[in-house]
Amino acid sequence: MSEAKKLFIKTYGCQMNVYDSERMAETLGGSGYETVETADQADMILLNTCHIREKAAEKIYSELGRFKGLKAAKPDLKIGVAGCVAQAEGEEIMKRQPMVDLVVGPQSYHRLPEMEAKVTEGKKALDTDFPEEDKFEHMPKRPKASRGPTAFLTVQEGCDKFCAFCVVPYTRGAEVSRPVERILTEARELVERGVKEITLLGQNVNAYHGLGKDGPMTLDQLIWALNDVDGLERIRFTTSHPNDMTDALIAAHGECEKLMPYLHLPVQSGSDHILKRMNRNHTAEEYIRLIERIRAARPDILLSGDFIVGFPEESDADFEDTMSLVREVNYGQAYSFKYSSRPGTPAAERALVDAAVADERLQRLQALLSEQQYAVQDTMVGREVSVLFEREGRLEGQMVGKSEYLHAVHVTAPNTARGDIRKVRIVNTERNSLGGELI
Ligand code: SAH
Ligand code: SF4
Ligand code: F3S
Repeated sequence: MSEAKKLFIKTYGCQMNVYDSERMAETLGGSGYETVETADQADMILLNTCHIREKAAEKIYSELGRFKGLKAAKPDLKIGVAGCVAQAEGEEIMKRQPMVDLVVGPQSYHRLPEMEAKVTEGKKALDTDFPEEDKFEHMPKRPKASRGPTAFLTVQEGCDKFCAFCVVPYTRGAEVSRPVERILTEARELVERGVKEITLLGQNVNAYHGLGKDGPMTLDQLIWALNDVDGLERIRFTTSHPNDMTDALIAAHGECEKLMPYLHLPVQSGSDHILKRMNRNHTAEEYIRLIERIRAARPDILLSGDFIVGFPEESDADFEDTMSLVREVNYGQAYSFKYSSRPGTPAAERALVDAAVADERLQRLQALLSEQQYAVQDTMVGREVSVLFEREGRLEGQMVGKSEYLHAVHVTAPNTARGDIRKVRIVNTERNSLGGELI
């Protein structure tokens, strides 16, 4: 028997890329590959890339540069680029970095085995199609081996929203929802392999409308169907758009036992002028009213968001509107970014805000968001939460897991195992985690 070939995948970007990397590894398993943890052991290196901001995309070229030595030492080492940079730049990548053998866009991963075979013959392989078929249906079933207690499951791909700053509708293509039965089957397979918590993924996941037995089903209906899967204990979903938060989905947050009280609902800006120029199709006031309705359904929900500062035309007053919105909402967690101009998007044509001004705004916003994060963490002290243990901690007998609110919690819990869910009292808070005791 020939020895397994070694595959090293490095993943950048969002959770959908994390999910895709797992599925690509499983697919290449059929071509005799097993995954390894470092590039220098590999027969094939795949970078699963992100195009969302300029820095993310440029990082790929410097990363590729670092493989020069490896390729020189092992001439038949295969180097591939997958993901959103692959989709956006295609052949350009091979021109800029001739040692790249393979470029594959996010909708063509099921074709990796043929592409790998082509590279083995000494040819280059490029595929950035948007094929009709559902790639996941042409990839192997999830492997039988047991795995960690949490998993991602992509239920929807692409985006039709065309926010003026964003590359996703171009790199991932139009919104497509996977059929309900396929998702339920995959969820059951994951549960059989020890998964207790599933996070449903989509760039615009709450617009989900996959085919069910009696026609299209919405995300709340899919969540209710998953609620009936025995052995599945927790359901999450990300990322959502405010305009697709339906009454039924809001209600599910109050009524569905397995749906966790955490919601990532990006608003990007608190200024109506900027929201309009971003093509977000709602006002700041509408977002705040929406948050009120969500909190009415589930008062303890932890809210998370994304913000862009320094979007073209953003004035001091626009930025102050973002700061007021943040003060009004009070986020438990959030991401904020300086605007990055992306080729091919409508906003790329517009004049940039002065970089120093944008930097200063980002610092102020991040300070406020951190302050809110720590204040929310402080309110957890003394409270009883349930924690799903994901791994052993650094200290003897310590376990680390996530609470319902997605806080990382360190607990001294000898005689427990990964996958256990235990009641825990929070006793202290650190920068990015909480400490708790078993009850
Ligand atoms: N589909 C998700 C998020 C997609 S990208 C949503 O609509 O919320 C994740 C985040 O990256 C976005 O929410 C946005 O805050 C940020 N982002 C996207 N494009 C950007 C750009 N050109 N510059 C800076 N940040 C950007
Ligand atoms: Fe990008 Fe907007 Fe779609 Fe999110 S909703 S992926 S920000 S275009
Ligand atoms: Fe990045 Fe593509 Fe995800 S651009 S954020 S990896 S969809």
